[in-house]
Amino acid sequence: MTFGIIALAVFLAILGIAAIHDGIVPPSHLQTIDPTKVAQTPPFDKPGLRKIGENAYEAYVVARIFSFTPSTITVPVGASVTFYATSPDVVHGFFIANTPVNMMVVPGWVSDEVHVFKKPGTYLLLCNEYCGSGHHFMYGKIEVK
Ligand code: CUA
Repeated sequence: MTFGIIALAVFLAILGIAAIHDGIVPPSHLQTIDPTKVAQTPPFDKPGLRKIGENAYEAYVVARIFSFTPSTITVPVGASVTFYATSPDVVHGFFIANTPVNMMVVPGWVSDEVHVFKKPGTYLLLCNEYCGSGHHFMYGKIEVK
């Protein structure tokens, strides 16, 4: 028991020191948003996919308890998609299975990551941060056609 408590204290101390020392902040912390006004703040007032160029897209996604909006995003094969995600409530995850896309979605921040979908198929979008009783029901889909 004592060892457990000491180990925990040491672990938290190392984590805290490392976080402060390395200036660890939420991913892509350049863009902030008022979490109480996500539904009124463009472009998150109309979440979804936008074409920004030849085979280039931006996807604006709102992660909230316990769903992603939009829940399905359809993109063509070979498309380069920049995902922008934010949350109006609690911390969520944004993990697209079988891709390197794995973001933390933190209220007040806009996280972003780019991915090129080279293979057609249905990719599961999962919340991989525990966000409450419905966490395991929180998922979406990326359809690559
Ligand atoms: Cu959202 Cu777990």
